[in-house]
Amino acid sequence: MSGKKNNKQYEIRGLTPTQIVEELNKYIIGQDAAKKAVAIALRNRWRRQNVQSALKEEILPNNIILIGPTGVGKTEIARRLAKLANAPFLKVEASKYTEVGYVGRDVESMIREITDIAVNMVKAERMEEVRDKATKLAEERILDILVPPIRQKSRVGDYNTEEEAIDEEVRIQNTREKFRKKLQKGDLDDRMIEFEITSEPSAVMQVFGPFGPDDLGINLQELIGNVLPKKMKKKKMTIKEAMQYFIQEESQKLIDMDGIIKEAIFRVENLGIIFIDEIDKIAGPPSKVGPDVSREGVQRDLLPIVEGSTVNTKYGPVKSDHILFIASGAFHVAKPSDLIPELQGRFPIRVELHNLTEDDFVKILTLPENALIKQYSALLESEGVELEFSLDAIREVAKVAAEVNEQVENIGARRLHTILTTLLEDILFGVPDLVQEKKIYITKEIVDQKFSKIVRNRDLSRYIL
Ligand SMILES: Nc1ncnc2c1ncn2[C@@H]1O[C@H](COP(=O)(O)OP(=O)(O)OP(=O)(O)O)[C@@H](O)[C@H]1O
Ligand SMILES: [Mg+2]
Repeated sequence: MSGKKNNKQYEIRGLTPTQIVEELNKYIIGQDAAKKAVAIALRNRWRRQNVQSALKEEILPNNIILIGPTGVGKTEIARRLAKLANAPFLKVEASKYTEVGYVGRDVESMIREITDIAVNMVKAERMEEVRDKATKLAEERILDILVPPIRQKSRVGDYNTEEEAIDEEVRIQNTREKFRKKLQKGDLDDRMIEFEITSEPSAVMQVFGPFGPDDLGINLQELIGNVLPKKMKKKKMTIKEAMQYFIQEESQKLIDMDGIIKEAIFRVENLGIIFIDEIDKIAGPPSKVGPDVSREGVQRDLLPIVEGSTVNTKYGPVKSDHILFIASGAFHVAKPSDLIPELQGRFPIRVELHNLTEDDFVKILTLPENALIKQYSALLESEGVELEFSLDAIREVAKVAAEVNEQVENIGARRLHTILTTLLEDILFGVPDLVQEKKIYITKEIVDQKFSKIVRNRDLSRYIL
């Protein structure tokens, strides 16, 4: 790593806890306790960044366990939190990990995965930053192909007089500018051009068996890419495609990969959020039936990662000490106290999420920025159809959802999905061929008509909703 000094290190967005909750409120209804807990955890990382003394290293993240039934917003809260913090975020299922020694993903791989995510994230940002510059350079390269610049032509003796040479230069320059205008307007998009590219050696053999090169913490692509010679290859494509190709290539040259990796590792170590779903599945005593990898074994493997350790990744060592871990689970059978004490100790904050009510459903259907009704309206708007719900229709949808959750199985807000798709099925299928109306108004009667029979019949609702 070159370790450039002037590489501006990312600053944690200094949202205050109330601002964080406000942002979360745009997407998640209720669950105030959980929002509060994650807001504090996030703000504490910003506070820690600003601690000057040696104490900074001692301050540990407030790892959290979110406890609550399915579909009440556990994952959504963590995901939104990561987004508004612009933090690298990884979601994993605890049950996909197995003890060391068994075939399966080892626990350390979560650090490698989140590092990959961070590298891609920073890279995308840097690519965006150099985009204008890369576009200009790409333009020049296309023009070089279409109207080769004078210096390639004016060999000694090509022109009788210096005047002639200069005239020629001006003429070519004018032509280039004319082409540049056309290029920028997109007039040349469909024209084919041919140029040479260096092709990357692609034949990488799989010789690692069950362990990917990733598990060894090596960048195989780089290793091999540097050894094998690069070949030149002729390539034909439209100017539009060529433009994209050159922009990509020029961007790659303009960005500083070492700086990106350094920044990415910084972000993982100081801002990273790992969401461990279904942690309750690895709690409790080992099950007596079936091939079961000891759950306690997985917990023990998890311990050093959550506790703080250094993991080798293909980008170098990454420390997990200050990564924020948010675990979640329904804990219907096992309780948080069934986790091994050492792991419990590393998740000091427990928050319960409550069941969603009919009132919550009314809000979830309408208020969030990504509310389901807004989504369906947008979908139909793309066909020139306006979709609107009356207030009592929305109330009715919420009521049906709550009833079915109670009668059949409580799947939380996900129920709204199944209800709405059923309700709108005929419209979504009928537009634009069978349904000609440009304005569709959903009333309580329509909702009743659709669901009265289904909801009353337990078996029907089990299959349909
Ligand atoms: N409180 C809420 N406010 C708004 N939307 C919600 C809420 N709870 C759930 N949803 C919506 O329901 C869907 C499922 O929520 P989410 O993924 O957070 O469930 P979960 O609690 O993680 O459940 P599981 O235990 O099954 O993973 C998401 O699309 C989310 O937008
Ligand atoms: Mg979830």
